[in-house]
Amino acid sequence: MVAAVRVHKTGGPEVLTYEEIDIPAPGPGQVRLKQHTAGVNFIDTYFRSGMYPSPVGLPFVSGNEGAGEVLAVGPGVSDIKVGDRVGYVSALGAYAAERLLPAERAVKLPDKISYEQAAGMMLKGMTVEYLLNRTFKVRGGMNVLIHAAAGGIGLIACQWANLLGATVIGTAGSKEKAALAKANGCHHTILYRDEDFVAKVKEITGGKLCEVVYDGIGKATFPASLDCIKPLGMFVSFGNASGSIEAFNINILQAKGSLFATRPTLNTYAAKREDLLAIANSLFSVVTSGKVKIPVNQRYALKDAAQAHRDLESRATTGSSILIP
Ligand SMILES: NC(=O)c1ccc[n+]([C@@H]2O[C@H](COP(=O)([O-])OP(=O)(O)OC[C@H]3O[C@@H](n4cnc5c(N)ncnc54)[C@H](OP(=O)(O)O)[C@@H]3O)[C@@H](O)[C@H]2O)c1
Repeated sequence: MVAAVRVHKTGGPEVLTYEEIDIPAPGPGQVRLKQHTAGVNFIDTYFRSGMYPSPVGLPFVSGNEGAGEVLAVGPGVSDIKVGDRVGYVSALGAYAAERLLPAERAVKLPDKISYEQAAGMMLKGMTVEYLLNRTFKVRGGMNVLIHAAAGGIGLIACQWANLLGATVIGTAGSKEKAALAKANGCHHTILYRDEDFVAKVKEITGGKLCEVVYDGIGKATFPASLDCIKPLGMFVSFGNASGSIEAFNINILQAKGSLFATRPTLNTYAAKREDLLAIANSLFSVVTSGKVKIPVNQRYALKDAAQAHRDLESRATTGSSILIP
């Protein structure tokens, strides 16, 4: 039996139940992992609340990101060995001391990447990689708006967009968060709870607006985010921290300058193993070179997962949060 945090019925943070579960021997194509750390992500709250249906039904072990050491491998697994240090993303079941994982989703960690860093970045950092390099290619001289710039995705995205040479504009919920975003590569910050962020973007860019807006907030920043984008620019809606964007008339994109809009997920970009590894290696490269840091700013014991969710949902966190079994 091992410690795990399960959801038996969807709801608020209180439905996260700390208990002991059985882990069977790994089946074909699976590995058994001793988890050193698990990442906490907004998507965990969507599965917990029922906004996203659990692919394995109820009950399910919460969590989509983690890192640990391979204890056993199932039949047919050849490229992952007992003792390997691995990280993974997008495989429900991370909030546990041990777990089974499809070997096909396991990524070997370079020696220079710690388990803490891995749990703080496999989901968030790989998301930033595909958002800035694949969904829309950020280049030098572009104006880029990143919402929730001091968040888990936000702090990594600000550093990486800065590294790519963009002028980085970030929104933040408090002065402290804005200062943190600035210390992580954001050139200009906007306190979007007090200031009109569209007017500020116009002022900062001298009316030129942004080539791209990265919006993980959803309902609260739509459609205003569209008014921050240049003609023919890109609206990247990648999350729903404030709730989902409601159905809208697509003609709004024409009216606001023939804009492009996309709603991407890492699951699609990393669906093939070769893409999963390419995105992970690109992330490992910027992190091991020291060009992008992974700020793990909250650490919780596994049994305190509900508190981690409360903090994330009440905007009390910055950077990445991890659970330690
Ligand atoms: N599509 C993908 O592939 C993908 C992958 C990973 C994450 N995501 C999305 O990326 C977004 C950020 O994820 P994260 O895990 O890094 O979270 P996070 O940014 O660390 O936390 C969410 C932040 O959103 C801001 N926020 C604004 N309105 C909010 C509200 N009503 N309730 C709660 N927070 C609010 C808060 O920052 P301020 O106080 O500064 O406003 C809060 O700290 C989420 O929407 C998530 O679903 C998408």
